[in-house]
Amino acid sequence: MVTISISASTPYEVVLDNQDRWIDSVDWSSYSMLWVVTDKHVESLYGESFRSTLNLTHSHVVSSVVEAGDASKSLSQLEQLVAEGLRHGCDRQTLIVAFGGGMIGDLAGFLASVYMRGVPYIQVPTTILAHDSAVGGKVAVNQPFAKNAIGSFYQPSGVYYNVSRLNTLPVQEVRSGLGELLKHAYLSRYVLESSFEDDLFLDLNENERLDWVSWLARGIRVKQTIVETDEREQGIRAWLNFGHTFGHALESVEAYRIPHGEAVLHGMVFAFLVSGDEVRAKRLFNWMRSNDVTPIDWQPFEHYVEKMMLDKKNRHGVIRFVLLRETITVESVQLEHLRHTFEQMKGWWER
Ligand SMILES: NC(=O)c1ccc[n+]([C@@H]2O[C@H](COP(=O)([O-])OP(=O)(O)OC[C@H]3O[C@@H](n4cnc5c(N)ncnc54)[C@H](O)[C@@H]3O)[C@@H](O)[C@H]2O)c1
Repeated sequence: MVTISISASTPYEVVLDNQDRWIDSVDWSSYSMLWVVTDKHVESLYGESFRSTLNLTHSHVVSSVVEAGDASKSLSQLEQLVAEGLRHGCDRQTLIVAFGGGMIGDLAGFLASVYMRGVPYIQVPTTILAHDSAVGGKVAVNQPFAKNAIGSFYQPSGVYYNVSRLNTLPVQEVRSGLGELLKHAYLSRYVLESSFEDDLFLDLNENERLDWVSWLARGIRVKQTIVETDEREQGIRAWLNFGHTFGHALESVEAYRIPHGEAVLHGMVFAFLVSGDEVRAKRLFNWMRSNDVTPIDWQPFEHYVEKMMLDKKNRHGVIRFVLLRETITVESVQLEHLRHTFEQMKGWWER
């Protein structure tokens, strides 16, 4: 078991374990009821057993189940959940339990931030990718034009991982989770005392089962260092957006056919090429290719530009990228350079 204490405006602990021992560390008596929010896949796999476990600690547990997939991260879904909460009798002392991947974490976390002007919530992540989304307190729903366009910063009371639940993830979701873990590995060079970029590649290439408790903890330590310095993204928190400028545009152009973390993998190759780092771009590209990462269904360059124009980092209508150079920079990049990069990356995939 690994415990990481996050020092935020509201401090909390992240516990990583291969069972649910965290249950004993929560003071359940301060909550009038527990409101589990989950999606249909997670419900069918773990819903009943998870609620039985919670029932050992609290007599009043209710739940809401939404469709799986990012389409549920919407204002209309949020409104339905508020109605359900009111029907369940959830009050201000209710604890919301976000039980699922990043979609549920973002949706239920945002729900917690607005339900009766704010109720406490915990994250119980069930995907690898959620080691990123569950930590840092960014919660949101999507707007049809742009991902995460409606959201807030709202810290959880705790993040509790039982990594044994990761065993049922489909291979595409494993790759997607590795996308954000690799991002943290790249950032580790700049953020931690020692980089784990090479270690992670080594382990991935060995094709062995990763020790999730220790690997997710390493990823979370990168995120911890950044969000503790800049909780509300006034500065270096933007670094976590590495790979997301092209990645978010890709997700949107492909109508979310490509999972978030796989889109970030493509986005990181793109960002390395923007900064002229062909060595790291090629190493990542080769790993992606040999691990069957979902290929891009290439559309005209302008389609991606239209989406990148909506990126929150942009200034004065110029697209900006997080780039890993000697130091990490956030740079405006001219359209012609982006077009050249796009053609270069497309050429690699079509070869
Ligand atoms: N808030 C943040 O800082 C932040 C950071 C990164 C990503 N995100 C958001 O996270 C979301 C993506 O998260 P995700 O990749 O976890 O997606 P997800 O929550 O949609 O889960 C992916 C799929 O895996 C299924 N699933 C979940 N747990 C499972 C399990 N244990 N076994 C089998 N299937 C399981 C889900 O039902 C779903 O079909 C996106 O909405 C993204 O914007 C947020």
